Amino acid sequence: MDRKPVIFSGIQPTGTFTLGNYMGAIKNWVKLQDDYRCVYSVVDLHSVTIRQEPKILRENTMRAYALLLACGVDPEKSVLFVQSHVPTHAEAAWLLGCYTPYGELGRMTQFKDKSAAHSENINAGLFTYPVLQIADILLYNASLVPVGEDQRQHLELSRNTAIRFNGIYGDTFVVPEPYIQKEGGKIMSLQEPAKKMSKSDATPKAYISVLDPPDTMIKKFKSAVTDSGTDVAYRPGKDGVNNLITIYGLITGKTIEETEAEFKGKGYGDFKLAVGEAVANHLKPVQDEYYRLMDDRAYLEACWKQGAEKAFAISSRTLEKARKKVGLLKR
Ligand code: TRP
Repeated sequence: MDRKPVIFSGIQPTGTFTLGNYMGAIKNWVKLQDDYRCVYSVVDLHSVTIRQEPKILRENTMRAYALLLACGVDPEKSVLFVQSHVPTHAEAAWLLGCYTPYGELGRMTQFKDKSAAHSENINAGLFTYPVLQIADILLYNASLVPVGEDQRQHLELSRNTAIRFNGIYGDTFVVPEPYIQKEGGKIMSLQEPAKKMSKSDATPKAYISVLDPPDTMIKKFKSAVTDSGTDVAYRPGKDGVNNLITIYGLITGKTIEETEAEFKGKGYGDFKLAVGEAVANHLKPVQDEYYRLMDDRAYLEACWKQGAEKAFAISSRTLEKARKKVGLLKR
């Protein structure tokens, strides 16, 4: 029996991934596969809390799945599935929603932000979004969940719900902990380097998409906002240059000092070009693999079918246990 601790994480299929998603999340997902039993999901049910164009959602889900494979998520080592292919998630969300207080959901900052941004469509799903996330995590007995700062509150909520349920019925769910990444934390916008890099930024120049053609990437780095200085040096307040040094370090493995030494006496121009080229070269094999996979629909389908079967097998065991505890009649 595989006794490695379980990791669960999910990513929404909205457009392509940014360099920030790649560095901050996906590269870590890939690394974690060696030491943990990893379960990763393209969480399409979470995406429909915001109105989606059906054809685009379908495409984006397939793209996100292929891109995760291209980045190195290994479907033999890990479970990689599309959330809506596994019906236990929606069912568990109903049950767990009955153990999650309305008041706690109302305090979620993501709900407040999203309802402000989409005031024309504040639906119940947007409000119960975190309950579905709780189901995702608890169904697999995940002890660790790698998430960014913005998801901390949701993770805290899943801990509370697991503890509450266990308190009433006895040990049922594993209480998850956040998995804090040592590196790769935060990649900032190339245009407003005090802000996090985001694909929802209005100017595409502000973010690098993992699928940007190499010359586009290089151009974006060349026009990255820095300051009026010239030294490639990591200093407080020099957000733009600091961000570029961080990115360069993550790609090349170089420390800040090594990067500073490498570009001593050279200007920002040379440095930006070097960062752009390093990123483009690094992502080239990922892009090649992605396009190869997108041409092999039969393989992709087989892959997500198998992922869904594995996910269903694990999650239905947990769900059965919870159903029984609550007093639902055996089916
Ligand atoms: N809500 C997460 C996000 O927007 C995605 C997500 C859904 C998730 N289910 C999850 C992340 C379970 C971690 C664990 O980033």
